[in-house]
Amino acid sequence: MQLGWTRGGKMRLGVLLMLLLCWSLDGTENSFTINTIQMESLPDWTVKNGQNLTLKCVVDISSTLQVRPQHLMLFYKDDVLLHNVSSVENTESLFIPAARVYDSGTYKCTVVLNKKEKTTQEYQVSVKGVPDPRVTLDKKEAIEGGLVTVNCSVPEEKAPIRFIIEKLDIHTKIVKQKKEKNSQNQNFVTWEFPVEEQDLILVFRCQAKILSGMDFEVSEPVRSELVTVRESFSIPKFHISPPGMITEGEQLHIKCTIQVTHLAHEMPEIIIQKDKKIVATNTNRKNPEAVYSEMAMVEHNGNYTCKVESSRISKVSSIVVNITELFSKPKLESSSIRLDQGEMLSLSCSILGAPLANFTIQRDGVIVSQDQNFTKIAFEWDSGRYTCTAGIGKVVKESNTVQITVCEKLSKPRIFHDAKSEIIKGQTIRISCHSINGTSPISYRLLKATHDVEVQTKLSKDPAVFEDKPTQDVDYQCATDNCHSLPGMVSEVLRVKVIAPVNEVRLSILASQEVESGEEIVLLCTVAEGTGPITYKFYKEMEDKPFYQVVTNETNAHWRKTKVSKEQEGQYYCTASNRASPQRSSPQSNTLAVRVFLAPWKKGLIAVVVIGVIIATLIVGAKCYFLKKAKAKQMPVEMSRPAVPLLNSNNEKMSDPNIEANSHYGYGDDVGNHAMKPLNENKDSLSSDVEYTEVEVTPVEPHQALGTKGTETVYSEIRKANPNFMENRYSRTEGSLDGT
Ligand SMILES: *[C@@H]1O[C@H](CO)[C@@H](O)[C@H](O)[C@H]1NC(C)=O
Ligand SMILES: *[C@@H]1O[C@H](CO)[C@@H](O)[C@H](O)[C@H]1NC(C)=O
Ligand SMILES: *[C@@H]1O[C@H](CO)[C@@H](O)[C@H](O)[C@H]1NC(C)=O
Ligand SMILES: *[C@@H]1O[C@H](CO)[C@@H](O)[C@H](O)[C@H]1NC(C)=O
Ligand SMILES: *[C@@H]1O[C@H](CO)[C@@H](O)[C@H](O)[C@H]1NC(C)=O
Ligand SMILES: *[C@@H]1O[C@H](CO)[C@@H](O)[C@H](O)[C@H]1NC(C)=O
Ligand SMILES: *[C@@H]1O[C@H](CO)[C@@H](O)[C@H](O)[C@H]1NC(C)=O
Ligand SMILES: *[C@@H]1O[C@H](CO)[C@@H](O)[C@H](O)[C@H]1NC(C)=O
Ligand SMILES: *[C@@H]1O[C@H](CO)[C@@H](O)[C@H](O)[C@H]1NC(C)=O
Repeated sequence: MQLGWTRGGKMRLGVLLMLLLCWSLDGTENSFTINTIQMESLPDWTVKNGQNLTLKCVVDISSTLQVRPQHLMLFYKDDVLLHNVSSVENTESLFIPAARVYDSGTYKCTVVLNKKEKTTQEYQVSVKGVPDPRVTLDKKEAIEGGLVTVNCSVPEEKAPIRFIIEKLDIHTKIVKQKKEKNSQNQNFVTWEFPVEEQDLILVFRCQAKILSGMDFEVSEPVRSELVTVRESFSIPKFHISPPGMITEGEQLHIKCTIQVTHLAHEMPEIIIQKDKKIVATNTNRKNPEAVYSEMAMVEHNGNYTCKVESSRISKVSSIVVNITELFSKPKLESSSIRLDQGEMLSLSCSILGAPLANFTIQRDGVIVSQDQNFTKIAFEWDSGRYTCTAGIGKVVKESNTVQITVCEKLSKPRIFHDAKSEIIKGQTIRISCHSINGTSPISYRLLKATHDVEVQTKLSKDPAVFEDKPTQDVDYQCATDNCHSLPGMVSEVLRVKVIAPVNEVRLSILASQEVESGEEIVLLCTVAEGTGPITYKFYKEMEDKPFYQVVTNETNAHWRKTKVSKEQEGQYYCTASNRASPQRSSPQSNTLAVRVFLAPWKKGLIAVVVIGVIIATLIVGAKCYFLKKAKAKQMPVEMSRPAVPLLNSNNEKMSDPNIEANSHYGYGDDVGNHAMKPLNENKDSLSSDVEYTEVEVTPVEPHQALGTKGTETVYSEIRKANPNFMENRYSRTEGSLDGT
């Protein structure tokens, strides 16, 4: 850089230094202040739409410097920056050529100077009025049923704009249609208006409204050009023939015609209506007319309407047709409308004034007479709807209808039922009643014991069927009645037998359930209800077959047993059944327990007998014993060796083989073998010589061991008896648990 410095460079450096000096002077010594700032408007704050508008921002700045300081001026509309300008002037302007409603709003301006800024208050700018809208149409000539497209716009303004378009009749000035709508994005709208019947010359009027602040600025209403309307078809026209007065019998023509323009898009439909009924339409598409053609009758009198309709257009006209009556309606009369079979039926047809006419009389559409009068003996099949006709020339008229009912007398009703002769109580019985001959409707009354139970009316010839649930034997009868003048008929009596099934079977006993043997018992089987004959069966429990059976008409049966024994003790029940009982399981009673006991005196007797027998046995036993003892005393006894003690006879195990041998020898048979002596005898002859022998005893059988175990020491005390005397012996056995 230093290398590049030339004279020119020195000059540039000098300017730079001056600038720096000047700037430093500004920064240090010069002060600025914004005194005031305000806005002005030319020509005014409120202007007419389309006027030029100038908004000025006027600022007053004080400064120590001689030159005016550079500052920034900012213009805002509705707080949005609109325009900015950098200036040294005190006043700056914002020019708005041809102000519009959308220019309305609040404006303000701000001045910015060396980090200081000041803003004016807010100023309201109002633009009054809306420019005239432009209305254009797509056509100047329209046809009924067609459409006119209307374009209304305000090119100077911006959306949103509210448009109001009206369709007016130029002559009547009546608003025929009005549409109102906001256009959000465009400053125009296009709408289609239909052209209706009776529209002749139309004009459209458009008005624009624009929201400015809270209020609407409204334009003048602007008219469009005129639209001439052409008829697509004319109003329908009636042509009635014959002209003038029309009399019955003449041929009546009612014709409706229209004229259709060549411009019409479509051929309209023509309809002739009488009241709500369509009587004719146009069948020939090329010929725009509808014709209704009939022989004139007074029935054709009335208001006829011709309607012509295309998709959007409908034109109507009407006419009243008045036809003169030739003769009045015939009148059919009958002597009576309700007759009994065999009576005279007499019908007469007449016309007011009695002109010469041809008559017929019909029953249900079938001619029964070609004459004015009809007389015959009535039969049931003569019932029906009668009418008559009267004709003069071509004109034929029908009379009123007469309903004739000929009544056949009822035959005596037959009564019968569907069940067998007997009915089980609770079952439904169907009782039929039938009168074979007689005119319907027939009313059937069922009588039960001469009281009315039910009434049925039969329209057909079928029998009446009644349902009943008789609870007891009953007599039925039925009575019938119909239109016949004679009183009704009554049937024979139908007798129905009702069997009540057996109900609530009970078994009871007369007196107590505990019976002394030898007494009498009576078992009673009862039923609460049941028609006889009833079969009663008495059972003892565990036995299949009844031990007693009886058939009776009574509601109870009994079984009697005299002199009961223990054999009669047990559980008893009974069954009862009749014809109404189910085949397999006839109703069964409760179970009754019967106990038989002995009389006290018999017990005593038995006791006495038993005691007697015991005593006798004892006596005999004792006698036998003493007898044996006496025998034993007479036998000589020799016993040198000690005998086996009686007590231990089976158990002894002796050390001495001799003793053992002896013991075996002397065992058991004390009568046949004389080695042993009776004990009680030994006591008597005790001597002083006592020998003791020690004997070891091992018990062989537990029951004989007396609860001891192990070795037993047996002391046999043997006394040496006097040789003359029987050997005395005394044995003592000592058992010890310790094993001594
Ligand atoms: C409005 O301003 C335009 C220029 O923008 C000018 O041509 C016109 O003459 C002015 N109108 C009036 C009425 O001053
Ligand atoms: C002033 O307007 C210019 C363009 O006209 C713009 O570039 C500049 O940012 C604006 N200044 C301010 C402070 O908005
Ligand atoms: C309606 O007219 C305006 C001008 O008046 C035009 O800009 C616009 O396109 C027209 N709209 C239609 C649908 O013709
Ligand atoms: C005939 O009928 C039309 C449509 O129902 C009605 O407008 C008109 O008044 C009627 N005319 C007479 C004479 O009743
Ligand atoms: C029809 O015509 C008769 C006379 O011919 C008149 O007496 C009667 O009132 C008319 N009826 C109507 C509905 O016009
Ligand atoms: C029909 O009967 C009426 C009486 O009911 C009588 O006056 C009339 O003459 C009879 N007509 C004929 C054709 O018999
Ligand atoms: C009755 O009918 C006969 C034959 O159909 C006809 O010749 C006569 O003219 C009729 N009488 C009247 C009064 O219409
Ligand atoms: C029912 O009527 C016919 C003839 O109409 C007769 O033969 C028959 O005996 C009648 N029956 C009774 C049950 O009266
Ligand atoms: C039961 O009654 C019927 C009649 O109700 C009678 O015919 C029959 O003989 C009677 N039977 C007895 C056993 O009494």
